[in-house]
Amino acid sequence: MTKDNFFKEKITLAVTGASGSGYFLRLLASLVEADLQVYLLLSDAAKIVLRTEENEDWPEKISELNLFLENRFHAKTGQIIVLTAKDWFSPVASGSSAPGKMIVCPCSCGTLASIAQGLSNNLIQRAADVVLKERGKLIVMPRETPFSTIHLRNMLTLSELGVTVMPLAPGFYHQPKTIHDLQDFMVARVLDHLNIPHKISKRWCE
Ligand SMILES: Cc1cc2nc3c(=O)[nH]c(=O)nc-3n(C[C@H](O)[C@H](O)[C@H](O)COP(=O)(O)O)c2cc1C
Repeated sequence: MTKDNFFKEKITLAVTGASGSGYFLRLLASLVEADLQVYLLLSDAAKIVLRTEENEDWPEKISELNLFLENRFHAKTGQIIVLTAKDWFSPVASGSSAPGKMIVCPCSCGTLASIAQGLSNNLIQRAADVVLKERGKLIVMPRETPFSTIHLRNMLTLSELGVTVMPLAPGFYHQPKTIHDLQDFMVARVLDHLNIPHKISKRWCE
């Protein structure tokens, strides 16, 4: 039995250079807490945004980064697997081994366009392309304002392909008091869509 078998499920989490690093930090923590094994893909721009918004400077070297994230998120050994942009031999790059679920959070409009056009120019785009061709569950969480017609067209293209387009636009009916409350609103919604149990926030009418 490999250490992969110790986890409930596998999932791919891609992080791109749109604003909202705090969302993915909360999301990653929740996926770890739910005992999922996470293939984590970070674009270069995502690392810049993370530094800018959260003052977090993560190690560049992948072996160091894996260890750092295990400590940072109280994950089990091997629970978070960081992949680089050209890891073409990784499980997420092929339909024969990729997890059936993938989240892009936050999703830049650049990556949104690339996925909508099937470019597969880096591992994030390729992994999304694989989930699409295998008819898995892909959730993209774009952030931009206002959206241009190009952005909206790309979202429509993805939606027509069965992708869940979930803009990072939290509600306020739960009377948030902190930024974490707003982030948790979005994290709860995405976990609901993936049938991943959580106790984060109340649902409508609860
Ligand atoms: C601090 C910062 C904030 C950004 N915010 C956004 C954003 O909210 N939405 C977006 O689409 N791009 C945003 N960008 C631009 C993207 O990072 C840029 O287009 C990048 O090429 C995206 O590359 P990626 O999709 O490979 O991560 C931001 C860039 C920086 C440095």
